[in-house]
Amino acid sequence: MNTSSIRQKHKELFGIKEPLLVRSPGRINLIGEHTDYNDGFVFPAAIDKAIWFTASRNDKKLFRFFSFDFDEYFELPVDELSISKVSWANYLLGVADQYKKRGHSLSGVDVVFGGDIPVGAGLSSSAAVENGFALVLNKLFDFQESKIEMVKMAQKAEHEYAGVMCGIMDQFAIMFGKKQQAIRLDCRTLDYEYANINLTGYQIVLCDTKVKHSLVSSAYNQRRKECESGVNLLKQYKPEITALRDADPDLLNKHKAEMDEVVYRRCKYVVEENLRVMEAFKALTQGNIAKLGALMTETHKGLRDDFEVSCKELDILFDFAQSFDGVIGSRMMGGGFGGCTINIVENDKAEAFKNGATKHYKQTTGNTPSIYDVKIMEGTNAVII
Ligand code: GLA
Repeated sequence: MNTSSIRQKHKELFGIKEPLLVRSPGRINLIGEHTDYNDGFVFPAAIDKAIWFTASRNDKKLFRFFSFDFDEYFELPVDELSISKVSWANYLLGVADQYKKRGHSLSGVDVVFGGDIPVGAGLSSSAAVENGFALVLNKLFDFQESKIEMVKMAQKAEHEYAGVMCGIMDQFAIMFGKKQQAIRLDCRTLDYEYANINLTGYQIVLCDTKVKHSLVSSAYNQRRKECESGVNLLKQYKPEITALRDADPDLLNKHKAEMDEVVYRRCKYVVEENLRVMEAFKALTQGNIAKLGALMTETHKGLRDDFEVSCKELDILFDFAQSFDGVIGSRMMGGGFGGCTINIVENDKAEAFKNGATKHYKQTTGNTPSIYDVKIMEGTNAVII
């Protein structure tokens, strides 16, 4: 897939030679997992894998979408906007619905989209689609929504049309991404700061398990509930606590005996992870990659043992990375139960690491992983051709 084939398809289907072109990337997250919906901190970045959109208006009052990757066409009258049985279309329809709810009047739009973000790999291809389409509508109809409003609409689209009660990290990182910069985001205030990713001597390597266990969205929503039940208990002692962001290890330990054992472990992980994000930000801005790596390793252990969102395949890749001389940090990334590990690897050992991880994973699981080198790139934007 390249942009000229998408543009060609647009011309073929809709007869428009020079449609609007939008690029919307995937994301990685250095550290700060499952903290966003606890009003905490995250440290993601947009990457050089993306979904591309061509778009133009039509005067037929129709949504006409073509998914290049699924090779499928979808059509719906704008006035009949509602959740569809075609799951990929919901990521676009959900965004259109948010514009409608904000009082914008929608008319016909033709879209072709596709890209190279692997689906189900934990790189947020769905948020890339939501953000990209949010920008498409904003540009085509001059709705004048701000970036942050588009982020919030994209997140609500995921809640209401895909049924995943996600936090704001993915949509934010994808919209606000900058070349060579990771974003330390406060998910409560939405204050953010960029940090230059200068991994001199190291590179980021993703190892994709190629599995996505079916419990992903149900377990995700369940974790949110467990965190909320921890907050409800702590609130009785400190009413100002409205999210786990407000709790600290001392308070948590003081009330450990009163808490359900599982809820305690969920809370412990989140409280510790928030502290790790702050430390990691400091380490990275001081060029202390070894410290960042050590914190990532702690995160994996917390996600595996306390938050329990890892899986056998992710742990196999994590254990291999731990044993490999040349990997300075490794952990599962994203929601969990499949997808990728993120690894910080010495440049001159990267090839050996990739080969070794592939061989080991094949031997232990019988499946071949995918390996991706990623670079940190600009967020969602319209492209001038
Ligand atoms: C998914 C969600 C995010 C975030 C991560 C876990 O990617 O979409 O909001 O909660 O999981 O950190």
